Amino acid sequence: MVNSRLACLLLFMAVALASWWSAVICHNITAILDNFPDYSIQNGYMSSTKIADEVNSRQTITCLVLPNIVMSALAADHTPASLKNALRLLVLLDYFDSQKLHDIDGGTTITTTLFQTTGEAIGQEGFVNITNLRGGRVAFGSAVPGSKLTSDYTKSVRQIPYNISIIEISAPIIFPGLFDDGAASDANLTAILEKAGCKIFASLISSSGMIKIFQVAMVKGLTLFAPTDEAFKAKGVPDLNSLSSADLVTLLQYHAVASYNPKDSLKTAHHPIATMASGAAGNYEITVTVQGDDVTLHTGVDSSRIARTVLDETPVCILTVESVLLPEELFGNAPSLEPAPAPGAAEESPAPQVATPVMAPAPAPALAKGPATAVLSPADSPASAPAAESPDDVADKEDDRSTAAVAMVTSLCVAMAVVAAAVLL
Ligand SMILES: *[C@@H]1O[C@H](CO)[C@@H](O)[C@H](O)[C@H]1NC(C)=O
Ligand SMILES: *[C@@H]1O[C@H](CO)[C@@H](O)[C@H](O)[C@H]1NC(C)=O
Ligand SMILES: *[C@@H]1O[C@H](CO)[C@@H](O)[C@H](O)[C@H]1NC(C)=O
Ligand SMILES: *[C@@H]1O[C@H](CO)[C@@H](O)[C@H](O)[C@H]1NC(C)=O
Repeated sequence: MVNSRLACLLLFMAVALASWWSAVICHNITAILDNFPDYSIQNGYMSSTKIADEVNSRQTITCLVLPNIVMSALAADHTPASLKNALRLLVLLDYFDSQKLHDIDGGTTITTTLFQTTGEAIGQEGFVNITNLRGGRVAFGSAVPGSKLTSDYTKSVRQIPYNISIIEISAPIIFPGLFDDGAASDANLTAILEKAGCKIFASLISSSGMIKIFQVAMVKGLTLFAPTDEAFKAKGVPDLNSLSSADLVTLLQYHAVASYNPKDSLKTAHHPIATMASGAAGNYEITVTVQGDDVTLHTGVDSSRIARTVLDETPVCILTVESVLLPEELFGNAPSLEPAPAPGAAEESPAPQVATPVMAPAPAPALAKGPATAVLSPADSPASAPAAESPDDVADKEDDRSTAAVAMVTSLCVAMAVVAAAVLL
């Protein structure tokens, strides 16, 4: 019994680790663009708005980049928050190299962008029209009816077929209303939380005075994990009235991070995340695991899935969570609180999880494929990349480093699965 529990736990960890990595390893757009100083301004904005994380978590992608002179003119006219969607519109969810652009079927196509994935796009706003014009010219424009094809393909920057392609274009892709966006720091936090079904959390941060601290933080960066009203009513949640006011403030601070971390960025968090409660009094950290599109926060005492994004406007992000996050530093000693979600989850569905790695070790080989092909790629690339127009070597070094890390984690996952299997048998 103890052994099978241990096996389940190990397997669960291996599977969690495997799925966590599969969400992370696609590419590092920041590192790739670091080799091309002509696009350093766009690279900087892609990092600060966290668009880079959205790009890195997608396997097949084309990034349209603007030369610094064009990008700086665009940035001068707009706030970083309103630039975010303009940058998303430059990320195509398909692979286009020069050849494919010039060979478009029928000479025109509509392609989906990262902006479409936000749910904010109305009508055709999340799509881009690519059209071959006379004289070999390839033009880009918004797919919103009546838009002009105002942006031209100028050159290929870097290709890693068929994962990521970087292409320079002459001008941003814009539609009327793209930049209409209120400043997030002016948002009424209480109203937003109440509307999102987090009335109890809203009233706690108001009555404790925490709201003032959050509002100050919203200017520079704030992520809130707001428990829903159901979360506060759930079994196992300690009676908040029995907490001292200092502990209540700590608990509320534990639900906030003083930086901008939208859901896609949390997926790539490598380390435990410090919360606003972190400090001399304790670590008060949160760790993150990813399973497909699900992001789960772990406190050491309990776990909570992120339910939904209520507000995502750089630099403020409000996410609702399904459980109250109970920090180990405050609640770690109460054994009755241990809901054991990890072993519990592994136990409820042990059959598929045990079966998969033992009989047909699915996650491990899927992962192992990544490093294997990637290791081949430097030798491979001259042959497989006929249109190599740029110095690949520097970028490949960066790719190799993450490859090594992936290989290490892969072997760890495999080792854990093997140990688990051995214990089970
Ligand atoms: C991507 O590369 C940049 C610059 O080289 C580095 O700072 C960053 O940590 C990398 N991101 C990931 C997710 O590895
Ligand atoms: C793209 O835009 C051009 C010019 O507005 C238009 O003629 C063409 O039909 C559009 N392509 C598609 C696939 O809608
Ligand atoms: C924010 O919203 C709450 C609840 O809807 C309301 O009571 C409060 O007056 C609003 N505050 C401001 C500054 O508008
Ligand atoms: C492209 O992505 C696939 C799947 O993630 C990976 O296996 C392959 O190694 C990547 N190719 C290159 C050249 O990086």
